[in-house]
Amino acid sequence: MAIREILTFPDPVLRKTAKEVATFDEALKQLSRDMAETMYHAPGIGLAANQIGVLLQMVVVDISTSEEEKKFISLINPVISEGQGCVTDEEGCLSVIDYTSTVERFKKIKVTALDLDGNPLEFEAEDRFARIIQHEVDHLHGKLFIDRISPLKRSLYKKKLKKILQSAS
Ligand code: NI
Repeated sequence: MAIREILTFPDPVLRKTAKEVATFDEALKQLSRDMAETMYHAPGIGLAANQIGVLLQMVVVDISTSEEEKKFISLINPVISEGQGCVTDEEGCLSVIDYTSTVERFKKIKVTALDLDGNPLEFEAEDRFARIIQHEVDHLHGKLFIDRISPLKRSLYKKKLKKILQSAS
């Protein structure tokens, strides 16, 4: 297993649309393990493959119920087929440094995806779990949570980021 580098905004790779996975082999399983390790190391609760520069439609999402036992699921080619209700809650992203904001998302979603062996999955998700999946699926389409906040908040964040990057260089 290996910890990969997480790309951060405004890296242009984060704006690319990831390709559908067509080959379900050992390399894909290895990628999923690396993504999980990278996510937990960050630490984070979800990660999309394009955040580590791999343009494939794969996300990992933490589903741990306790601190001691880390559990995650890998979703390949995930699609949100239905959405219901609306909740606003705080969101952050490993690719958007030093920033969180409230974002509106569906409360409940229906998801179709494939597992690491290419078997179809279909399930419903709610609240926090639904929020993470919506956030990660956005990544696969080149979208970040800061695209879903007001233009004013976004421009304030860009200014703040500029200062952070300048003081780091
Ligand atoms: Ni993110």
